[in-house]
Amino acid sequence: MTLSIEWPCVALANSPLAKRTTLKVGGSAEWLLEPSTPDELREAYLVAKEHKLEIRVLGGGANLIIDDGVLPGVVISTERVRRTFRPLDPGEVIHPDDMTEEQANKLFDIEAPAIAVNDPRLIVWAGASLPGLVRAASLLGWSGLEGLIGVPGTLGGGIAMNAGGRWGELWDVVDMVRILRPDGEFEDIQRADANPGYRNGGLGECIVVGAVLRLTLDNKHRVAARQREYLLEKCKVQPVTESSAGCIFKNPGGPKAGGENSGEISAGRLIDELGLKGLERGAAAVSKLHGNFIVNRGGATATDVFGLISEIQSRVQEARNIELEIEVKRWR
Ligand code: EPU
Repeated sequence: MTLSIEWPCVALANSPLAKRTTLKVGGSAEWLLEPSTPDELREAYLVAKEHKLEIRVLGGGANLIIDDGVLPGVVISTERVRRTFRPLDPGEVIHPDDMTEEQANKLFDIEAPAIAVNDPRLIVWAGASLPGLVRAASLLGWSGLEGLIGVPGTLGGGIAMNAGGRWGELWDVVDMVRILRPDGEFEDIQRADANPGYRNGGLGECIVVGAVLRLTLDNKHRVAARQREYLLEKCKVQPVTESSAGCIFKNPGGPKAGGENSGEISAGRLIDELGLKGLERGAAAVSKLHGNFIVNRGGATATDVFGLISEIQSRVQEARNIELEIEVKRWR
């Protein structure tokens, strides 16, 4: 029945999803929708809702494990909703929706003469990649995103879950977020009215469609040097270049306010202490660098990954009487 739907954007039937996630496992979506603007995204959302289809939004697939098989309903990918703009005049933000194509093209080129030279803000659509933004900030000599070096994913996913690490979080530089509410209306949330927490943007079921980020004017060599320093540190302890979904389990000790871990128990250390690093199931394996990462050595399935997760959970339960809870999102 769903075959007769008139979608307002690119729509792919029975589309494979594994390559759209960083762990690279999982089956396909009954419908994969690829809007290219926030308005198209909203239209696609409304059509799916009208047909009472289950709706999921896919950003960079960085903190997500998708089950094998076919996911019913629609997956809306933000991959093509990925433009970045600069404000036209200091003190005034022109929203992408209100720009002419000519203005937008000019602003999109970060090497072009800046219209608002000393205004370190970026207007970013949801599908813009975090690594791309980190790189743009370094080219512009703007500080604030260095802590996100080595973090995969998109702006939308990063805001939804307040991506970050020990050197800072995305919400540290958010001025305003534009969301699509479950009732299909856009709403702009100012930073002062938001309540993000540890790995949680606090936006509930709303879909992030864009944001205004406020960075700090700095010097491009200093920004690049900090990025390199953090990346080198990160590469020592995390499998940055391998296919993974980031940390699999929540730290049982829980986070302290402000993003610091309580230090009571790190899931990675716990798994490491039990000698489980390197444990394999099919082509999925516990990283040899960090116990809380599962890496795909090539051709792993979601069944391999979930088998490994269950095995880790029962081994930790038996040895330490601690229940490890999954931190990544699972689509089934
Ligand atoms: N440790 C080990 N062995 C391991 C892993 C860690 O002994 O295999 C030790 C470390 O040496 C350190 C302690 O455990 O003394 C804590 O490790 P780490 O600093 O790596 O922090 P974490 O608590 O394991 C958290 C976040 C990470 C984030 C890092 C750094 C969670 C679940 N994880 O990890 O976030 O990158 O801090 O800020 O809160 C993610 O969200 O996907 C993620 C990777």
